[in-house]
Amino acid sequence: MQLTLVSGEASRAAASLLVLPIFDAEVKNPGATLGAVAEALGPTFLEAAAEEGFKGGADQSFVFHTHGALPASRVVLVGLGKQDAFEDEILRRAAGRAAKIAQRVKASSAVVALPSGVESAAAVRAAAEGVLLGAYRFDRYKSPSKNDKKVELAKVSLVLADDEKKSAATTAALDLAEAVAAGTNFARDLVNEPAGVMNPKALADAISKAGKKAGLSITVGNRRQIEAQKMGMFLAVARASTEEPQLIHVVYKPKNAEHAKRPPLALVGKAITFDSGGLSLKPSDAMLDMKIDMAGSGAVFGAMLAIAKIAPPFPVHAFVGACENMIGGNAYKLGDVLVSRAGKTVEVTNTDAEGRLVLGDILHWAAEHEPFQLVDLATLTGACMVALGRDHVGVFSPSDEVADDVLGAFRSAGEFGWRLPLHPYLKETLKSDIADMRNAGDRYGGASSAAMFLKEFVGETPWAHLDIAGPASYNRERNYQGKGATGVGVRTLIELVRKHAENPPAPRTSSKAPRAAKARSPRRAAAKKSA
Ligand code: BES
Ligand code: MN
Ligand code: ZN
Repeated sequence: MQLTLVSGEASRAAASLLVLPIFDAEVKNPGATLGAVAEALGPTFLEAAAEEGFKGGADQSFVFHTHGALPASRVVLVGLGKQDAFEDEILRRAAGRAAKIAQRVKASSAVVALPSGVESAAAVRAAAEGVLLGAYRFDRYKSPSKNDKKVELAKVSLVLADDEKKSAATTAALDLAEAVAAGTNFARDLVNEPAGVMNPKALADAISKAGKKAGLSITVGNRRQIEAQKMGMFLAVARASTEEPQLIHVVYKPKNAEHAKRPPLALVGKAITFDSGGLSLKPSDAMLDMKIDMAGSGAVFGAMLAIAKIAPPFPVHAFVGACENMIGGNAYKLGDVLVSRAGKTVEVTNTDAEGRLVLGDILHWAAEHEPFQLVDLATLTGACMVALGRDHVGVFSPSDEVADDVLGAFRSAGEFGWRLPLHPYLKETLKSDIADMRNAGDRYGGASSAAMFLKEFVGETPWAHLDIAGPASYNRERNYQGKGATGVGVRTLIELVRKHAENPPAPRTSSKAPRAAKARSPRRAAAKKSA
C-alpha cells in the first residue's frame, strides 16, 4: 500500500472511498469537511446516518454512496466518540475499521480526512497505523474466487486537518507508523503461517532474511551449538521433534561508536512453533491453535525490524530458542530431571509446561550479556488467559521500576498490559522432592508460578515477563484486528525502546565488562587489548 500525506480539502479529493473520522458532537454540528460533504450530498446523507443509528460513537461507522455528487464514490463516517475522551488508539481503531470497510466495498484507493483539533503528528501516526494494520489479511492459502474477487487497497492519502502543510514532524510520524505496522504485520505473518510451514528452521530463515535486509546481524545455531551451550532444558523439549531446534541471536548495534558501547536492551521471545503438549498431550481442541505458540518470538522479531529503522542510541539484542514440543519414542518424560544452563536441576512434572523450560535456558544466556533491561514475551499459560481475558497481556516483574516502564510503554502503544503478582511465596508451589525445583506448580495462580519459574534464571538482571497467551490471536474481527494473529507486543516493545532512547543507559564501567566476554578466554581478550 502506498500511503501519502497531503494538504487541502479532503471532500474534493478523488478516490474510491472518502473516510471521515468524526467526533460525536460533529454529527449535529458539522465541521468544515463534514459540512462540505453534507452540502454536496444533500439532506438525505445525514438523515440516513441518523436512521442507521450513527451517532459518532467510538465503535460506529456508516457508509453512503455519493452517486457522482462528490469525486469519491463512497463516503464512510467513522466515529471517534467524545472529543474530551479522545486518545490516539481511538483514531487507530477508527482508521482500522475504515480500511476493513474499504476492502469490503472493494475500494482500491481511499482518502482519510484527519480530525481537526488533534495534534497532527499523533493523528498521522494513529491513522496510518490503523489503516496499515486494518488492511492486513492472511489469505495466501485461499484460492481466488471468481465471484468475489479481492481488491487491494493500493493507495491511501491522509489529508492534514485545518489546511496544515506537511512538516518534519508529520513526515517522521508517517515513517514511524510505517515501521511499526510493517513490524506488526511481519509478526502476524509468522504467527498465522501453519506450523507445518513455520517450523524452527523456517522461523530462523524468515528473520535472517528480513533482518539482514534491515541491517541487523543474525547468528543461528543448531542442536550442536545448543548442546555446546549446555541448554539441557531446551534440548529436552526439542528432542522428540524431527525438526532441528534453532538458537537465534539478532543484534541491532548503533552506528555511533560511543552509543554502541552502552549496555544493551535484551528481548527474549517464546518460539515453540508447535505445542502438542508432549507426553502430557493436549486434547485436540486445545492443540488446534498451537501454531501460535511462537507469537512471543514473532513480536520480538517484528519489533527488531522496526528498531533497525528507529535506530535508538543503544544496542538491542534478541535471543530466541525455537523448537517443537512433540511426542515420540525419545520424548522427554514426566519425572525426568533436567540440568539447566544455569546448573539448576528441574523435575519435569508436566511436559506441557515446556515454554518455561526453553525460556529458562534462553533467559540465562540473555542475562549473561548484562543488559540494562531484559524483557521476555511468551504465550506461556492458559491461566493468564483465564485471569485476564483475551485482551490483556500479563506483566510480571520483581522490580516496580521495570514494571512501570513496561506498563507505560503499553499505554503509549494503545495495547493493554496488566501487572500480576510475582511474590516469593509462589516458589513453594515449585518445590520438588528430587530436584532443585519442578516445572509445573499447582492449579491456582498458574501464570504467576510460571513467571516465578522464569525468575530463577535471570539472576539480578532488571527483568519483566509478558504473558501474551490471551491477546496473541483473536477469534473475531475487531477494528484494526482481523481474525488470527494480532502481532501484540510489537508496538509496546517499540514504545519501550523509544522511551529508553530519550534517556539512554549509562555506558558500562570498564570494571564491569560483560561476563560472556570474560568467560570465553580472559587471556586471549587481554592479548587482543595489548595488540
Ligand atoms: N502454550 C501453552 C499456553 C497457551 C495456552 C498459550 C492457550 C495460548 C493459548 C503452554 O505451553 C501450556 O501448555 N501451558 C500449560 C501450563 C500447565 C501445564 C502448567 C497451561 O497453561 O495449561
Ligand atoms: Mn505447553
Ligand atoms: Zn506452549
